Amino acid sequence: MDSRESSRLRWVTLGSSEALVDEGLDVLHGLKQPSKTLPCRYFYDDRGSDLFEQITDLPEYYPTRTEQSILENCALEIAQLTGSCELVELGSGSSRKTRLLLEAYSQLHTQLQYCPIDVSAGILRTTALELLRQYPKLRLCGLAGTYEQALAHLPPAELENRMLIFLGSTIGNLSAEACDRFLTQIQHALKPGEYFLLGVDLQKEVSVIEAAYNDAQGITAAFNLNILNHLNHRFQGNFDLNQFSHWAFYNPVQHQIEMHLRSLKHQIVTLKALNLEVTLEAGETIQTEISRKFHLPTLTTTLESHALHPLHIWTDPQAWFGLLLCQRQCVGAECP
Ligand code: SAH
Ligand code: AVI
Repeated sequence: MDSRESSRLRWVTLGSSEALVDEGLDVLHGLKQPSKTLPCRYFYDDRGSDLFEQITDLPEYYPTRTEQSILENCALEIAQLTGSCELVELGSGSSRKTRLLLEAYSQLHTQLQYCPIDVSAGILRTTALELLRQYPKLRLCGLAGTYEQALAHLPPAELENRMLIFLGSTIGNLSAEACDRFLTQIQHALKPGEYFLLGVDLQKEVSVIEAAYNDAQGITAAFNLNILNHLNHRFQGNFDLNQFSHWAFYNPVQHQIEMHLRSLKHQIVTLKALNLEVTLEAGETIQTEISRKFHLPTLTTTLESHALHPLHIWTDPQAWFGLLLCQRQCVGAECP
């Protein structure tokens, strides 16, 4: 990185060392439930982020290329509709699709300010350096941490307006209750008039959805199993990845993919740093992720109830994926 690039970069690591010690509490909580679960953010260490990038290129995994095709058609329109604004992206990963927005904003507006936020610090830093080289007028502020931490501690805006961005249907990885809390945080992080750009995977034929989470090359299986590897490193665990198998299916009642790891035998696993011993029966599963698939009218109602009004909704020709540009409405005393 040369000095001109470094002058355009700010870096913030969220969470104190105490918070990092507390970090495993969500793992402890999930593994102590009668139906065991793990928080899906633990998929994303360096290897997990790399495996996710491989998933996005799989023929079966339609969400990324479908959202990309929508953005190719509407990025300029979004940049026109919002006017100049700071782009703040949650769960930015490789920022692959966001580059379409960066292109559009740099074509139409003089200032280009981007704040990627991700819990996976390695991919966040690599991407930040790449983007600074690629966009000479870009000013970038990288935040390493969780959505919750980032939304509670957003650095002061450098431009008049902000747009929070949440692509890839990552919102589908939150339960309905967690989604509600997340949207409340989005509502509070935005001023009336500011924007929220949201990408969501829509309900469709089950076979298409199930294939996307059961790819022929086994990359999704490796991604799923990698969560155990990450826990082993992070919390001095001794999960044996050969003793678990990948299981993903669509739950048509909840309209969600459920991803699990199935224990192949009776086993006892320890996570020394958490002082935890976990007993798994043969055939017992740990749920590692849900991926909800949305119905646009229902989602619109949910967004409206958080003062987020969808101004414009774009979809692809098959209506497999939706991109919603929402504007924060004023409520109560906020209104003039
Ligand atoms: N937005 C990209 C990447 C989606 S993958 C796309 O659309 O392709 C989900 C991303 O969110 C990963 O980069 C992961 O590291 C990050 N992530 C997952 N849980 C998170 C959390 N709780 N807080 C912050 N980032 C998180
Ligand atoms: C990041 N997230 C939206 C992906 C999804 O489709 O739910 C994660 C993923 N899990 C398995 N494949 C991809």
